[in-house]
Amino acid sequence: DTDTSCILVIFGGTGDLTHRKLMPALYNLQCTQKLPGNFAVVAIGRREKSNEDYRYEVYNSIKNFARFDMHAKVWQNLQQKIYYQRFNFTDDSGYIGLADFLQRLDERYQTRGNRIFYLAVAPEYFGVIVEKLQAHGMVRNKTSWQRAMIEKPFGRDLSSARQLNKKITGVFAEKNTYRIDHYLGKEMLQNIMVIRFANMFLEPIWNNQFIDNIQITSCEMVGVENRGSYYEQAGALLDMVQNHMLQLLTLTAMEPPASLNTEAIRNEKVKVLSTLQEFTPDLVQKNVVRGQYGSGTAQGKPVPGYRQEELVPPGSNTETFVAIKVNIENFRWAGVPFYIRTGKRMPFKATQIIVQFKSLPPILYARLNGQLHSNLLVIKIQPQEGVFFQFNAKKPGAQSQIVPVQMDFCQNCPDELNSPEAYERLLFDALRGDSTLFTRWDEVEHSWRFVDTIAATWRQYTPDFPNYPAGHRGPRAAEELISRDGREWLHIG
Ligand code: BG6
Repeated sequence: DTDTSCILVIFGGTGDLTHRKLMPALYNLQCTQKLPGNFAVVAIGRREKSNEDYRYEVYNSIKNFARFDMHAKVWQNLQQKIYYQRFNFTDDSGYIGLADFLQRLDERYQTRGNRIFYLAVAPEYFGVIVEKLQAHGMVRNKTSWQRAMIEKPFGRDLSSARQLNKKITGVFAEKNTYRIDHYLGKEMLQNIMVIRFANMFLEPIWNNQFIDNIQITSCEMVGVENRGSYYEQAGALLDMVQNHMLQLLTLTAMEPPASLNTEAIRNEKVKVLSTLQEFTPDLVQKNVVRGQYGSGTAQGKPVPGYRQEELVPPGSNTETFVAIKVNIENFRWAGVPFYIRTGKRMPFKATQIIVQFKSLPPILYARLNGQLHSNLLVIKIQPQEGVFFQFNAKKPGAQSQIVPVQMDFCQNCPDELNSPEAYERLLFDALRGDSTLFTRWDEVEHSWRFVDTIAATWRQYTPDFPNYPAGHRGPRAAEELISRDGREWLHIG
């Protein structure tokens, strides 16, 4: 449906995500004139507050987190469309009031019954909210559209994800279900396909004939912050690998789709996930490493270990670091290891895809220079966004010395270039009804399958945590995972 008029209903309107990401994204969209002409926002929370109080809080969040400065006129336009409603998500009377309120707003804003229901709440509420929306007649109306946007975590394992999916798709059709992986909203993730499939000098060599290995890294310097109670349920495997890391892997490894059509792209992505090497407990022991940070330093300051963080029990065995070596079992990738690494309290913040090419035969130059450096192609996702390329060249002046040189394209380095935020893109797409940058159910299903085997194996052993100090590159076993293959973790600063 091309009619973008709608009301965005946010469950979890007073939460962190709404304040830090969603409202600033709406403001940015208002600045770039991408919000529909007929539009309103209803934020639902459990605390009592007036529309005025709520708008004032949103104003402050936008000031702190939006990428554009606060302009009185833009804010004025946006704020008059924002409403706050208080009720308990399990309470029927709240939904009766909501249905009525939305209808009144439809008249005022000409929003025609179209809705996006954004679930920015703890996952245990996902099911009850969609059921009550249906019970109170707020979905599947014939003359309008209703979509659900769902935050992660989508389940805690395959079986709970299936149950959840059944509940959601019992109410919203798959095409109206927008499962969020905010990494897909990042500029450089959308760029991966373009870099791969729009460049003749890359596409033909993007395979096991020319590539030695691929490293996918997403490291953060922050610790768990105040999210201890959530993180205890998740750990790095569920928090980062099941979603963001596997999405990065998929986009890096997928075959070119036949077109840019949503389903064509998603089909290719699913094929990658379905050809991931199947892990056995032995392989998990061998090719997956988990870690947890102890006390150490971050940016020169002493910081506590994970077990001393707020809301984390002192004996916690939750992992804050994961490294994985995995193969993709298809013709393109047979024999090329993918090394995945993610962790908190690392010495640097960076998300990168590093493609290391094979070496040329040591016939001409290697004899003079020892080992030549490999060609590297690095897709830099964040904080710098760009592409880095390393190749060999003759050192000027020297008779026969060869050195690696670099070309470094940075797309967000110039100050005036301020990339759109992931949530901005995702909200914009959901308003337009484009679900390409959201995860389809079978993607979720395959990624849980992969992650479940790892989690099940881990449950059988007690890890020796903490095993890396805050501010270090992770546990020693992660270095061994790659060094035993004669390789090393790379990071392009
Ligand atoms: C979230 C995780 O999904 O992604 C966080 O829950 C993590 O733990 C975050 O810090 C990283 O996102 P970004 O956009 O900062 O790379």
